[in-house]
Formats: sequence, structure tokens, C-alpha cells
Amino acid sequence: MSFDRNIKIAPSILSADFANFGQEIQAIEAQGADWVHVDVMDGHFVPNLTFGPQAVKAFRPHVKTVMDVHLMISPVDAYIDAYADAGADVLTAHIEAGPHIHRTLQAIRAAGMKAGVALNPGTPAEAVAHLLDLTDLICVMTVNPGFGGQKFIDMTGKVRQLRQMIGDRPLHIEIDGGVDPKTAPLVATAGADVLVAGSAVFKGGSVSNPEVYGENIRAIRAAAEGQWT
Ligand code: DX5
Ligand code: ZN
Repeated sequence: MSFDRNIKIAPSILSADFANFGQEIQAIEAQGADWVHVDVMDGHFVPNLTFGPQAVKAFRPHVKTVMDVHLMISPVDAYIDAYADAGADVLTAHIEAGPHIHRTLQAIRAAGMKAGVALNPGTPAEAVAHLLDLTDLICVMTVNPGFGGQKFIDMTGKVRQLRQMIGDRPLHIEIDGGVDPKTAPLVATAGADVLVAGSAVFKGGSVSNPEVYGENIRAIRAAAEGQWT
């Protein structure tokens, strides 16, 4: 995974058919997804449960792009090696998930993955000030994590502030929650380059009607592109 600052659309398979992940991943990639976003929830850090490292490992052969694993779990550290073994390219932990995010980010890199740090809507940009050199991606949550299909919370001020703090560092800013063709330009203008979208990509489509995924991805990309400053 090399660094580039073009807009990347990362469909979240939280909105896919849970009985058919392999084909769903193949369909979104064939339809133009840049990354595949995998939401891991533990029913403890967030009030919902999805899947664990064994399932993520089973997704891996289907992912030809970048497998972007978003951990909404606490604690994190005991599972880092399992997600490395599952083949995650990017592993993102929440800053709110425990007292030792600095150690967690070091451990993620030491295990050979890109390290991401996610911020809930209530967490300020300053919280990552001492983590910028340990991090490859900052995920700015624009919903409270746990569910797809929620309303976008405007965090453009936080994104702008983060871009300033980051300076020349090769760091991605990812937006997660409520991204659609209306909200994508706001966050792209503010400085985000990776846009996660669940419901806005999967709505209206299916593995037997995958062209809709392509239309949805292109609509988000077209709305966001040209907004990079
Ligand atoms: C929320 C997840 C998101 C979610 C986004 O906890 O981290 O990745 O799937 O879904 P939409 O795009 O529907 O808000
Ligand atoms: Zn996510």
C-alpha cells in the first residue's frame, strides 16, 4: 500500500449481505472500490457485535485492494497478532478504547500493519498530538460507532485542524459515518482523503445487481473529487 492523496472510497461491508461476504467484496471491488472497510465490533466498546479475526481471515483472499480493519473493541492489544495473521493491511484502534493507545499503535506497526487511530465525535483533535509519528491514518468518526445508516455529524472543523497538525506527514484522514454524495464534498474540502461509506454504497444493489454499487461509488467520488485543497 503506497501513499497517495487521491480520494479513496472504502465501502463498509457492515452494509453487505452477511451470508455472502466473499461475493459482496468481489462485487464492490469490480465496481470501483479503492479499499474494503471491515468493521469489527465487540458488543462492549460499542453496542453491536459483528465478527472476529477468523471471519476477517476468511475475507482476505477476496480482497485484492486494501483490507482496512476498523476495530471497535476494547481491549485491543491481545488481538493485534490475530488481525496481522488475518491479513489486515491497515488496523485501526479507537483512542477511547484504553489508556495505552501509544503502545497499541507501536504494536500494530511492529506486527507489520499500517496503524490507524480512530476518534469518536466527542474526542478532540488535540488527543492525537503526540501520536502523529506513530500513525498512518486518522479515522474521524462522523457518527457514534456501532451501526450503519446513521445521520452524519459535522466534524469538518476537526478535520481541518488535523490536516494542519499533520503538516507534511504522509497521513491519511479517513471519514467514517454518514458519508454520501451530499456530505462527501464537505469532508474532502476539509482535507479528508479516505471516505468510508456503508449504506450509501450498498443501497439499491446486490451481488446479482452490482452495477448499482458502481453508480453509488461513482456518485460519492464525483461529489468529493475536485474538493481536495
Ligand atoms: C460505524 C461503522 C461505519 C459504518 C458506516 O460504526 O464504523 O463504518 O458502517 O456506515 P454508513 O456509511 O451507513 O454510515
Ligand atoms: Zn468503520
